Amino acid sequence: MMNSPAPLLSMQRISKRFGATQALEKVSLELYPGEVLALIGENGAGKSTLMKILAGAYQPDQGTMTLQGRPYRPSGPGEALQAGVAMIYQELNLAPDLSVEDNIMLGQERRWAWLGLSRRAARQQIRRVLAQLGHEELDPRLEVGRLPLGAQQVVEIARALLRQARVLVLDEPTSSLPQRDVERLFDVLRRLQGAGVGVIYISHFLEEVRQIAQRYAVLRDGHLVATGSLDQTTQEELVTLMVGRRVEELFPHVPHTPGEVILRVEQLQGASLPREAQLELRRGEILGIAGLVGSGRTELLRSIYALDPVRRGRVRVAGSTPAASPAARIRAGLGYVAEDRKSEGLALDQPLEDNLTWSHLAPYNRWGLLLRRRRRREAARWIQQLQIKAQGPRQPVYQLSGGNQQKVAFGRVLHQQANVLLLDEPTRGIDVGTKAELYRWMGQLAAQGKAVLFVSSYIQELLEVCDRVAVMCRGRLSPALPVEQWTEDKVLAVALGTQWPQASGETPPAQ
Ligand SMILES: Nc1ncnc2c1ncn2[C@@H]1O[C@H](COP(=O)(O)OP(=O)(O)OP(=O)(O)O)[C@@H](O)[C@H]1O
Ligand SMILES: [Mg+2]
Repeated sequence: MMNSPAPLLSMQRISKRFGATQALEKVSLELYPGEVLALIGENGAGKSTLMKILAGAYQPDQGTMTLQGRPYRPSGPGEALQAGVAMIYQELNLAPDLSVEDNIMLGQERRWAWLGLSRRAARQQIRRVLAQLGHEELDPRLEVGRLPLGAQQVVEIARALLRQARVLVLDEPTSSLPQRDVERLFDVLRRLQGAGVGVIYISHFLEEVRQIAQRYAVLRDGHLVATGSLDQTTQEELVTLMVGRRVEELFPHVPHTPGEVILRVEQLQGASLPREAQLELRRGEILGIAGLVGSGRTELLRSIYALDPVRRGRVRVAGSTPAASPAARIRAGLGYVAEDRKSEGLALDQPLEDNLTWSHLAPYNRWGLLLRRRRRREAARWIQQLQIKAQGPRQPVYQLSGGNQQKVAFGRVLHQQANVLLLDEPTRGIDVGTKAELYRWMGQLAAQGKAVLFVSSYIQELLEVCDRVAVMCRGRLSPALPVEQWTEDKVLAVALGTQWPQASGETPPAQ
């Protein structure tokens, strides 16, 4: 191991409580220069909280830290950055209305001025870092809110790199990055490592963690339960450490049989994406949609749900054509879980119970107070069934951990009793044990005669969970083939446009 004897950073007996939740209990952790340490654990285990304390966003109730041998107690993120600690947050932290360069320079204007750098010189620096990250094509003058999620993440990383961080924390950095960008990010991290930077890397993708990290630390219910070398620990051991028990089946299978067609998408073309999509989804079926980030999968679901206008084509649900509004689509039995839970999925400042019961409020309103109680009871039931880690139905959603927020978004379509579920990356940010639960839910929904359209960038889960899979490439959707006819390589080849399934004699989409 590359550990030099003196740690770069040491956290000692850190505790943090939020009301009734003991988020961290006497956690001690060390980070050495030039290492990547993987911080892993279930949703709500305390990973983000621990790192927010490190990055100055929260104050610990107890405990101390030292950085390069000196006491370190940042009073806020600015002070942490000054000391050389930068964090890329799980929920992106950019100003959507500002340009890329303004976001990167935000709060740094004085330093740039002090260094005597003109705006043009600053822009050049920014271009250099973006190129280092493999994104020379990103124009620093573009408005951040218009960039795809993956590109926004690159902007955050560039911001941290430009600040010469000694300690870099990445909280689930790859959950919305395309595979190619993940590799670029890893190259950058390796370069930083070579320069002696210490990296703490939070991820629920254990395969990925192995590619980049040397050591791991596992948090469970706010306690540090293990640290060790990844070389000497198997995947099963890691999962067992995280969950506190053996997980028998990562991909539980619930038998289900496809019945009649419930959703038919005919020649659908959006304003820009999708360019052409056709599919049939049957009751009792899970249909997977693979594809690169930006290929139009999200736009396909949004068009089906009538969130985006369509230029051509039709969406038929159970034989009829519902009007082109989300309300009409909900009435027709569609339910939708958005990719980006922060901006369109959830009302973060509202209580859990409202978020869970949102699209299905009607039965509760008519009778007023009495049924508000029933709504609370319903919410409590979903919290229990989905094992959402929360204080109760009244807790606002922003206080939940990232993965638990995602469960609320999923819980809402379950509560809505939708017949056709449109799920966009529903397992993003979800821990292994809970992923297995979500797969079981999908299987059970199919077994009840409901239908699931499952968009995911995680090819393995599509191949394990779906009955058929179609692949999106540059706005065009391939024919859906039975899952047995796909391999991971074949999915990738179709996603890249170098191969096209022959089912209906089509040719690969043109550039
Ligand atoms: N601002 C807050 N107010 C109240 N409770 C909070 C707040 N922030 C975190 N918590 C609670 O602290 C616990 C730990 O949350 P944390 O976000 O650190 O989990 P995590 O390990 O990052 O999980 P995930 O994998 O889902 O991101 C959770 O129970 C969460 O609800
Ligand atoms: Mg987190």
